[in-house]
Amino acid sequence: MQANQAMTEAGVSAPFRPANRVSTFTPTVFAEYTALAIEHNAVNLGQGFPNFPAPDFVKKAAQDAIGADLNQYTRSAGHLRLVNALAKVYSPLFNRDLNPLTEIVVTDGATEAIYATIQALIEPGDEVIMLEPFYDSYPASVIMAGGTPVYVSIPPVAPEAGKQISAADWAIDFAALEAAFSERTRLLILNTPQNALGKVYSRTELERIAQLAQKYDVLVLADEVYEWMVYPDAGRAAAIEHVRLATLPGMWERTITLGSAGKTFSVTGWKVGWAIAPAPIAHAILMGHQWIPFTVATPLQEAVAVGMEVAPQEGYFAWLGQMYQKKRDMLLDVLNQVGLTPVIPDGSYFILADSSTLDVPAEPGVLRDVSAARWLTREVGVAAIPPSHFYSPAHQHLTNNLIRLCFCKTDEMLEAAAERLQRLVKG
Ligand SMILES: Cc1ncc(COP(=O)(O)O)c(C=O)c1O
Repeated sequence: MQANQAMTEAGVSAPFRPANRVSTFTPTVFAEYTALAIEHNAVNLGQGFPNFPAPDFVKKAAQDAIGADLNQYTRSAGHLRLVNALAKVYSPLFNRDLNPLTEIVVTDGATEAIYATIQALIEPGDEVIMLEPFYDSYPASVIMAGGTPVYVSIPPVAPEAGKQISAADWAIDFAALEAAFSERTRLLILNTPQNALGKVYSRTELERIAQLAQKYDVLVLADEVYEWMVYPDAGRAAAIEHVRLATLPGMWERTITLGSAGKTFSVTGWKVGWAIAPAPIAHAILMGHQWIPFTVATPLQEAVAVGMEVAPQEGYFAWLGQMYQKKRDMLLDVLNQVGLTPVIPDGSYFILADSSTLDVPAEPGVLRDVSAARWLTREVGVAAIPPSHFYSPAHQHLTNNLIRLCFCKTDEMLEAAAERLQRLVKG
């Protein structure tokens, strides 16, 4: 239809109907809670982005790259210096010599890697299994490709005062997971360390997931953007370590692993991510990616390349994990003190906490966790996110008594949140 045919005589545009693939979407949860946090001048522990400076070595590299006029399109599959640096960092971690030219695709953040991968692999009607809580771009990307998301919840274990529950206690129900496979299943999405819950999948769990992927012959999208944020607590029965699914026997061939410079170098606004996969899969992802953004900002890719070259020499990755572990412990202490008993995360920069001690007025037709997050923002001045947003509608009741907070914030900001949360016990 021509533009002028869509106008009525009065010059008002004719009723507009969005395409089916976006018609069920609503603005992301962060839009509401960021606005609410601003309105109530709340300390915002809602959206997970670091509010502290990025490392000087990446910032300076970006400034230098712009100054040196690295300002034009670069290779669609990824700026050469960056794919070379990524291959160097990841080859030993994948126990193989990664080919920087054929096995890595640099994307517009991990979010575009998710979208491009799903576009590249999923036919209309294909099913994609994802574990709840999920990162909310997974179902959206599957729906936009015409696929069907199939949701499997990790059975929640309620935190209790005086009893330490960790994310590892939320164990996958493997019978339920296996029951979710059908002949239409093409992909399983696994996020370790897992956003919202902070679960770091154990080798045993990953081995069982790998068995299922092989038995039902499906590919796995391993979203490992929080790979460096893993907290090996002393004194825990089982050691906490980040195991890469692609390193398990028979899994390299069927795994796409994602990473994010946003998380790794505290530059979420740069939107630089990557997918690592066997050449035929990486090629299919590239065929999608070349028609999505075509390429990713050249000076930022150059800067991330410098970051990836410098980081291993400086012990940066280990430092990042230790820095976040201190922040996690700081927020855990506060939550325990004020009766918002946390599920201890073993990775990521999020904490789920029990909100059942809060006397939140019920709002008709509103999920309790939504009311609790709004109430906390309004009445206490600390913004949190209701985790039901990371569940399919049928399972949203599972998080009635939980809120999600993040600790990727300056110590000053975490202290300000602590001070406000203390009001919950001081009255
Ligand atoms: C699990 C997970 N995957 C992917 C992303 C997106 O990463 P990026 O900012 O690189 O697009 C996020 C960001 O919050 C996330 O939590």
